[in-house]
Amino acid sequence: MKTITFIFAIFLVLGGIGSNVLRGQTTMNTAGYRNLLPVPASVNFQTGRLAVGADFSAAATGYKDARLLSGIERASRRTELRTGLEFKRTPADAATATLIVECQNAGKAIPALDEDEAYSLDVTDKQARLKANTVVGALRGLETFLQLIEGDQTGYFIPAVSIQDKPRFAWRGLLIDSCRHFQPVEVLKRELDGMAAVKLNVLHWHLTEDQGFRVEVHKYPKLHQMGSDGLYYTQDQIREVVAYATERGIRVVPEFDMPGHATSWLVGYPELGSAPGPYEIVRHWGIFDAALDPTRDEVYKFIDGFLGEMAALFPDAYMHIGGDESNGKHWKQNPKIQAFMKEKNIKDTEALQSYFTAKVQTIVAKHKKRMIGWDEIYSPEMPKNIVIHSWRGAESLAKAATNGYAGILSSGYYLDHMRPAAFHYAVDPIPANSTLTEQQKELILGGEACMWSEYVSPETIDSRIWPRLGAIAERLWSPGTITDVDDMYRRTTALGIQLEVFGLNNETTTDRLMRNLAGSTDINSLKTLVDLVEPLQGYNRGKAHPSTQMTPLTRLVDAAKPESATGRSFAKAVDEFLSDAPNFRAHREDMTAKLNRWRDVNDALTPMFARSPVLHEAEPLAKDLSQISQAGLDAISQLASGNPAKPEWRDATLAMLAEAVKHDQAAVGLSIIPSVKQLVIAAAELDQLKTSTPAEWSKRVKTLATEKPKNGRR
Ligand code: ACM
Repeated sequence: MKTITFIFAIFLVLGGIGSNVLRGQTTMNTAGYRNLLPVPASVNFQTGRLAVGADFSAAATGYKDARLLSGIERASRRTELRTGLEFKRTPADAATATLIVECQNAGKAIPALDEDEAYSLDVTDKQARLKANTVVGALRGLETFLQLIEGDQTGYFIPAVSIQDKPRFAWRGLLIDSCRHFQPVEVLKRELDGMAAVKLNVLHWHLTEDQGFRVEVHKYPKLHQMGSDGLYYTQDQIREVVAYATERGIRVVPEFDMPGHATSWLVGYPELGSAPGPYEIVRHWGIFDAALDPTRDEVYKFIDGFLGEMAALFPDAYMHIGGDESNGKHWKQNPKIQAFMKEKNIKDTEALQSYFTAKVQTIVAKHKKRMIGWDEIYSPEMPKNIVIHSWRGAESLAKAATNGYAGILSSGYYLDHMRPAAFHYAVDPIPANSTLTEQQKELILGGEACMWSEYVSPETIDSRIWPRLGAIAERLWSPGTITDVDDMYRRTTALGIQLEVFGLNNETTTDRLMRNLAGSTDINSLKTLVDLVEPLQGYNRGKAHPSTQMTPLTRLVDAAKPESATGRSFAKAVDEFLSDAPNFRAHREDMTAKLNRWRDVNDALTPMFARSPVLHEAEPLAKDLSQISQAGLDAISQLASGNPAKPEWRDATLAMLAEAVKHDQAAVGLSIIPSVKQLVIAAAELDQLKTSTPAEWSKRVKTLATEKPKNGRR
C-alpha cells in the first residue's frame, strides 16, 4: 500500500500521467524527464531518493571562488523558497553535505563561446555529487539539481539519478529589445535569472533603434541625451547588468544597429545622416528611411569613437552591428551618395551596404572584437571570422555555412510573433534533413530567441518570454532527438511556476491586467474568456491595432497569454473523443461541461461589459464564443446519437465559424475554433464511418478540418 501511495504521489507531482501509471503502462524509471528542462544529454533515473530537509547542506570540495560560492548560495536559497524549509546552515564537508560540488577550474573569467559547460550529477539516497571542469559547468548543474526537487507526503526529495550533460550548441541566446519599449535594469536581471534556469548563455542586448538610443556615450553624449527621452542605461548600469550576467555564466552581446534603424542617432547628430534632417525619435513601428551616410570619412571616425568606447564597456568578444532592413531610400535620393557610387563603381544600395559593412568590420576588429550582424551583412568578400545572424531563415544560414561563415539562427524563434511553443520547438538550427557537411555543421553555433518589444512593456514582457522560451532553450541545449511536444508542454508549465521564485511575473500578468480591465477583483468570467483567446500571430496585431510607443499595452490582447493552454487541452480532448469512434465516450462529459460554461460566459459578462468601456472590443468575441460553444455541443450530441448531421447545418455552422475567425478589432482569436470545426465536420461525416476504420475516419476528419481556408486565414 505504501509503495503504491508513494508512486502515485510522485506522478501527481509530475502531473497528467498518473492514470497511466496506475494502469501499469509506465514504470517509475521510464516516467519521462520529470521537470528537467532542458533535457540533459544523458539521464538515467534509478531507484532511491535523497531527502531534502532542514538539515540540507552544500559544500564545494574542489576549486572554489566567489562566483561558485554565490551560485551555490543562490541554489540553496531557491531550494528554501521552493520548499518553505529553513536550512540550518551548519558548515558542511564532503562527508556530510547533502550536495557536494566538485569543480576543477575557474574556467573563463569572462563567459565565452568556447566555455566548457559540461557537468555530471549523481544522486544517491545518501548524497548528490555535482562535478564540472569549470564554474559555469557547475552553475548549469546546480540548475538541474533544483529542477529535480519533488515532494510527496513524506517531504521533499531528489530522485536517485545519474546525469552526464553538455550543450548541443554553444550559442544559446535571448535578444531583448530595450529600444521600442525601454526595459529597466530590474527587468533584465529577472530575465537573466530565468535564462540561467534554462541554461541559456547569451543576452543579446538590442540597444539602438529608430525609437531610442539606450546607452550612455561619454564621447558623443547627444546620442543618449537627445535620442532616448531620458530612458537610457548609464554605463554603471550596463556594468551592473554585465556583472549580473557574468555571475550566471551568461555573455552579454550588445547590438548597435547600423546603417539603418538609426534614426535616434541622428536626432543629436543629423550630420551623420544621408538626408539633411532634422530627425526626431520615431514613435511608431516599421522600416524607416533614415540611414548613416556610408560615403563620408567623418561617419567612420564617429563609428570608430563610439564603438571604441562600447568595446571597453562590454567585455564580450563579439559586437553586433545589426545591418538589417536598411532600405537604401535616402542613399538613392542623395546626389552626393549617387556620385560616390558611380565613382567607386558600386552598382546598387546592397553593394553600398557591403562597402559600409566592410569598413565597420575593420573598426570592430581594431577594437579587438569579432563582428556579428543580421543576414544583410553577408557578402562573399567579408573576412571569414564574422558571424551571420539569420532572421531570414535556415536556408540563409546554410548558405553562409556553405561559404565558410559561422552563423546563428533566430528565424522561427521570434517570441513577439505570438506563436505557440510547439512552433518554436520544431525549429532546429540544423534540421534533420540538413545537407550540410559535418564541417559546415560545426559553423552553426546555435540560435537566439528574439523578444522584439513593439508590443511589450516592462509590465508584460515576462508573460511574453516565459515559459515559451523554455522550449527554445531545450532545442538549443538538448539532443535533437528530444522532440515530444506534450512532454515539452508539461515541463514548460512546471518551469512557469518555478520562475516566479525569481520575481518573474509570467503567470500573474494575466490576472493583474484582467482586474484592470474589469475594474474588479471578481474576474472569474473574464478569465474564462481570456483563457480561450490568443493574440493574433505574426504582424497581424499591428494591422488590427496600429499603435505607437505611447499606446498603453493594457488591453485584452495584452492580458491574453501567447497561447491558450485551455484551447490546447480541448484540442487534445477532441482528438481523443473522435478517435473513440463509434462510441464517442472519451472526454464527452468533460467537453460538454466546458462547452456549456463557455456558451454561458457571454451572459455572465454582460454587466462587466456595461461598466468597462475598454472591454467593448470583447463583446463580439463573447457572443461568438457562445455560438461556437453551442455548435460544439450540437456536434457532440449528433455524434453521440449516431445520426449524421445535415449538410445544411454543417454549411451554416462552418460559415459561422469562418466569420468568428475575423476578430481583428480585439487583435485576438478564439483558440477553440479549429477543434469545434473538427467536431462539426465529424458530425457531418458520420456515414463515412461505415466504410472506414475509426482511425482512418478520425484522421480524415482532422485533415478536412485543417485544410486552409481560401482566404488564407488560420
Ligand atoms: C529583424 O527582424 N529585422 C532582425
